[in-house]
Amino acid sequence: MIRTILTTFALTVSIAAMATIPYGTISKEDHNRAVDLVRQMTLEEKCTLISGQVGGFQTFGIERLGIPAVKMSDGPQGVRNDTRSTYYPCGMSVAASFNRSVAKGVGSGIGCDARARGVGFMLCPGVNIYRSASCGRNFEYFGEDPYLAAETAASLICGIQEQGVISTIKHFAVNNQEYDRHGVSSSIDERTANEIYFAAFRAAVEKARVGAVMTSYNPVNGVHAAESPWLIKDNLRAWGHQGIVMSDWTSTYSTIGCVTGGLDLEMPRGRVMNYSLIKPLIDNGVIDEKDIDLKCVNILQTIIAFGFLDRPMKDSSIPEDYEYSREMAMNAAVEGPVMLLNEGALPIRSNRRNDIVVLGPNADVVPYGGGSGEIFPIEGRSVSLLAAMQSLGKGYKVRTMDWKNVDAASLAKATAVIFAGGYDKRSEAENRDKDYRLPDGQDEAIKAIAAINPNVTVVINTGGEFDLNAWKDDVKAIILAWYGGQAGGPALADIISGKVSPSGRLPFTFWGSLEKNPAFPHYGINTDKKTDYKPHQERYAKYPFTQYSEGIFIGYRGEDKFGVKPLFPFGYGLTYSRFEYSDISVTPSDGGFDVSFKLTNTGKFKASEVAQVYVAPIAPNVLRPTRELKGYDKVTLAPGESRICTVHLPGSAFAYYSPAIHGWKTDNGNYDIQVGRNADGIVLSKTVVL
Ligand code: BGC
Repeated sequence: MIRTILTTFALTVSIAAMATIPYGTISKEDHNRAVDLVRQMTLEEKCTLISGQVGGFQTFGIERLGIPAVKMSDGPQGVRNDTRSTYYPCGMSVAASFNRSVAKGVGSGIGCDARARGVGFMLCPGVNIYRSASCGRNFEYFGEDPYLAAETAASLICGIQEQGVISTIKHFAVNNQEYDRHGVSSSIDERTANEIYFAAFRAAVEKARVGAVMTSYNPVNGVHAAESPWLIKDNLRAWGHQGIVMSDWTSTYSTIGCVTGGLDLEMPRGRVMNYSLIKPLIDNGVIDEKDIDLKCVNILQTIIAFGFLDRPMKDSSIPEDYEYSREMAMNAAVEGPVMLLNEGALPIRSNRRNDIVVLGPNADVVPYGGGSGEIFPIEGRSVSLLAAMQSLGKGYKVRTMDWKNVDAASLAKATAVIFAGGYDKRSEAENRDKDYRLPDGQDEAIKAIAAINPNVTVVINTGGEFDLNAWKDDVKAIILAWYGGQAGGPALADIISGKVSPSGRLPFTFWGSLEKNPAFPHYGINTDKKTDYKPHQERYAKYPFTQYSEGIFIGYRGEDKFGVKPLFPFGYGLTYSRFEYSDISVTPSDGGFDVSFKLTNTGKFKASEVAQVYVAPIAPNVLRPTRELKGYDKVTLAPGESRICTVHLPGSAFAYYSPAIHGWKTDNGNYDIQVGRNADGIVLSKTVVL
């Protein structure tokens, strides 16, 4: 067994090392082979290939031509369909790590798990931008910043694809709410779409050569995404996507729209793209058979490039419960949690107060986000925080108690850790937006416990911002734990006990109230300024749309524009040590600049800092955000240790999208290059002239 694992480990590494051209890149030979196969196919066979098989989650095979049916599985917390598998931290946690190798590791773990099960398409990652705390799927996604989302996505996709599995990035595009997700049209301008909402998809195509793109449920500017030539042809294909464009499940509405709009694969079955509907349209000259051929070529050249015509999809040398995957899940789990507050409560040392009470609805469970992102973890592999704290050993005495009926006398003198938040798969899931408040009277319980105990740490499972105002001033420490996967408990135990320092950073702005978010007045189909967001379907049903009026000024980009300050800024996160920044230099390099600075750990703990590089145009010709993230580096340093960090800013880091030229433009002028701990914590800055 050990031998097998080591051999497969070696394969994992060597494929990765060789990948200078992203794995899965479609070659001329792949294309020609696909064209040749399509020439041999009947119209009926072609119409079969461009839709999923009834029963879902696989394509059709055409046996006489050696074309296999290819299995699919959700994503993104692990391999979901018909199986138990490694449960990885959710997307928001991976983004919060601000660590490209963590993202890549999660991707390769998922890729291995998929290969072990013969799955050819993973339906992940999800990269829709975090526009509001209300979106029920935020936990699956990578936060509010297009650069962070793009870097995380490209790394994760390379991880999956280097294992010989197609990654399917979703949901293209401008799908940022769950309420009435089939019906509400996203009204968005071209600049905002390109600068904010398309960026991660574009990076997936350009940097990672993602094999497949899933369209979204919602219409964009009045046209359903699966039938939008603007999205698919004018953008996605124009960026160089040669892979597959597949619909989300039942998001197709018309044969002509899907055929001419550029969709290749209708999922989960051919509701509108089937032989009996397509044949008469071709016979009557309404659509051209060449459009069908093109879809088949796109599908075939992708599965050829991934080797599915030449090797079995299943790699039986990889165990379903794979040590490497478990390791990747643990690596990611440790780097995701974000410490928002610490007034001396953490870390809890074994030699301090040993009576530790871990309580709360999530103390002894391992919750996960639901919907298609739901996961069925491998039995025995998920460890709760309580169990993990109890196995710390070495002087840690850890007990629990009923969080709704606490024993005040015994709790008063203990060190309390409350684990709350989304408590099962129904708390956050697709198809509905979520409450801002914690569920189930948790606020009241936390407040009551904090009134008894002066030393409370609160740990929260969440996919995004939530209302902590009821108790934030009464507790001593707050950690956002996201949905941390099967290793979330042990990772948190390591952080809480100080074995590792927390190193996650907020991938979105934590405003402190729903209303402060610049998108709030325009979120949902409720376009009035009511503070209690409730969709008013009856009122807007005739023409439901959500206007992206805040434009490019979402999240931290909107702070100066709208004069609002958040409770915790984008990129924020505390650790157990302190870092000093000094000695910035900016030198021209490779059409852009190299930004160098010295980072010193001046505290007492080994810890990681996420150094963030922002570009701030001075007196720009067009409206631009005060600053935008364009680079970051996560650096781990021992106490007293220093390192010179260099972050490269390519020329494109200075560009903005100009609707006048339908493209990107860089203006000459002065720009501040700012290095900071977070979007509101700039510590070094240097002006450059373009
Ligand atoms: C979701 C997709 C998912 C698909 C298949 C849809 O409801 O929006 O993200 O991949 O179902 O489960």
